[in-house]
Amino acid sequence: EKIYVGVDVGGTSIKVGVCNQDGALLHTYEGPTENDKGSERILANIAAYARLVVEQTGRSWAEVEGVGVGIAGFLDIPNGVIVSSPNLNLRNAPLKAYLQEHLGKEVYVNNDANVAALGEAWAGAGRGVADCVCYTLGTGVGGGIIINGRIVEGFNAAAGELGHISIVPDLEAIQCGCGKMGCLETVSSATGIIRMAKDAVARGDQTSLAHVPDITAKDVVDAAKAGDEVAARIVNRAAYYLGKSMAVVAVVINPERFIIGGGVSKAGEFLFEQIREVFLKYTPEAASKNVQVVPAELGNSAGVVGAAGLVLRS
Ligand code: BGC
Ligand code: NA
Ligand code: ZN
Repeated sequence: EKIYVGVDVGGTSIKVGVCNQDGALLHTYEGPTENDKGSERILANIAAYARLVVEQTGRSWAEVEGVGVGIAGFLDIPNGVIVSSPNLNLRNAPLKAYLQEHLGKEVYVNNDANVAALGEAWAGAGRGVADCVCYTLGTGVGGGIIINGRIVEGFNAAAGELGHISIVPDLEAIQCGCGKMGCLETVSSATGIIRMAKDAVARGDQTSLAHVPDITAKDVVDAAKAGDEVAARIVNRAAYYLGKSMAVVAVVINPERFIIGGGVSKAGEFLFEQIREVFLKYTPEAASKNVQVVPAELGNSAGVVGAAGLVLRS
């Protein structure tokens, strides 16, 4: 039986997994990225962990059909080059060429959120759905568009960069890590939620968060659930702009299902109810009818599963 290796490269750790042809995860391994040690080390770690996970699975390297890699940032997908990445020490890094040389297998590279979307489409919340759009709400806001079961990459491989939909009105907008103003990522990511909470505390707003030493997005969600009005307004703002961006996406693509994952989505129904309400309020019925807004199912395995899926679906 052929096996497929998936790699999910994050700022702090690299997750690798071995899948069979049905997208079932046979085994995973996680090791440090060692981002501070430079690009050579990151590339070497990816190669080493890929070999290690196959060994741990008890399979031979000869059974590996190919290796897929999901990685945050702006990429040259055909050449597998990381052009630039907000959280990684990689600039014009020839990831695909390096791995093909060191692993002796065909290597496929794609954006982390595109790959997570493919994972959900293949083996998670998007199973059996031809057209779905996936958001990942984490440090950034990632997006992936799946049409007819395939990732939409676009001219410069920037299709599906949903976190950079400019949606916050100019008067309230702040600058995003991408350099532009008012991106969805500035309000609906964990980073955005934490920033809004810290701003509220600094302004002297009456909130239980004022007593929390190192505020996390989960702290804000928990406070909102417990009835803290300041926290509730912050979570609602995150949900509001996310829902509005989905209204935009819906009239452009009209996907059957929106899938929302990433750490922030763990807020659960509390958050999803607000997102659905905004989505329905701003989307014409023709584009929202029977469209589902559901949580991701694969959790933080979506990346490795989808990366393995890149090999099968390419
Ligand atoms: C990056 C995307 C990435 C997302 C999630 C965004 O800031 O532009 O490429 O998919 O963060 O990691
Ligand atoms: Na993307
Ligand atoms: Zn941006």
